[in-house]
Amino acid sequence: MSEKKRIFSGIQPSGDLTLGSYMGAIKNWVALQDEYECLYCIVDMHAITVRQVPADLRRRSLEQLSQYLACGLDPKKNILFIQSHVPQHAELAWVLGCSTQFGELSRMTQFKDKSKKHADNITAGLFTYPVLMAADILLYQADLVPVGQDQKQHVELCRDIANRFNGQYSPTFTLPEPFIPKMGTRIMCLSDPTSKMSKSAPEGCVFLMDKPEDIMRKFKRAVTDCEAAVRFDKENKPGITNLLSIYCTATGKTVEEAEAEFEGQGYGIFKPAVGEAVVELLRPIREEATRLMGDKAYLESIYSEGAEKARYLAEKTLRKVYKKVGFVAR
Ligand code: TRP
Repeated sequence: MSEKKRIFSGIQPSGDLTLGSYMGAIKNWVALQDEYECLYCIVDMHAITVRQVPADLRRRSLEQLSQYLACGLDPKKNILFIQSHVPQHAELAWVLGCSTQFGELSRMTQFKDKSKKHADNITAGLFTYPVLMAADILLYQADLVPVGQDQKQHVELCRDIANRFNGQYSPTFTLPEPFIPKMGTRIMCLSDPTSKMSKSAPEGCVFLMDKPEDIMRKFKRAVTDCEAAVRFDKENKPGITNLLSIYCTATGKTVEEAEAEFEGQGYGIFKPAVGEAVVELLRPIREEATRLMGDKAYLESIYSEGAEKARYLAEKTLRKVYKKVGFVAR
């Protein structure tokens, strides 16, 4: 077990999971679970850096856990837990915050974007968000951090903080690397295939929990082009290319196989075929996630066990850190 490289990733329970999150991330995590020692954390403390409706936050945290399990993340192979259940995250974040420069945090592009978007609520928490994220990663001595492109800058900052701490005291933290798996498919919006699939455009976005009729409607209305040929061409045919990627990821077929299958057929055949492939892909996930949401005792046993394992690992790191910075042992 300890020979394996360690992976840590955090997911905010701030929105419903989409087909993009499944094909771009979760599907890969399932593929990694035998080769790596993985921790996946539902980062509820990060979520409150912008306003949340408390009841929704609580429900979504559990829904996400159910959906991860339903997607095939095995709680015996991965540590699945909720950030606020492991107090060491907040404790380490304080210490790391004292090794982080105001200027470094001011340069984070996500902070700049989010403070524009939430101009009436620019909190200290939003500003120090990357420090909490660094604590998440460093507590577990993670080697690899699977993240999207938008989070690379935060992982770089985490490395800088770790490097500085190691230099100022003595080697304490593993330097993590961003890990952007090759197999991940970047799924685009169905109604605007030049931008990423996102919950902010719900008609162009398929949610994991969408009903079959909603999935079919969204695919039938997907934006295509006027050539009427099912052909992979990112430049000139972004809509069809996106649908082909989705179809291939859902069915396991290659692009060549899919192109041959729809040769000479119009989009009126192709689009519903993609919709059906996605309906069949998501059906067992939706059914299992719904069943799990009805079994709160089981969910509780999963996140309690996960938090217990996480606290054990986290405390080992935190104890070292407290000693190095000169705190009296408790
Ligand atoms: N900031 C990440 C996001 O918004 C979520 C996150 C929090 C995270 N802590 C993390 C990701 C640690 C990777 C590792 O997507």
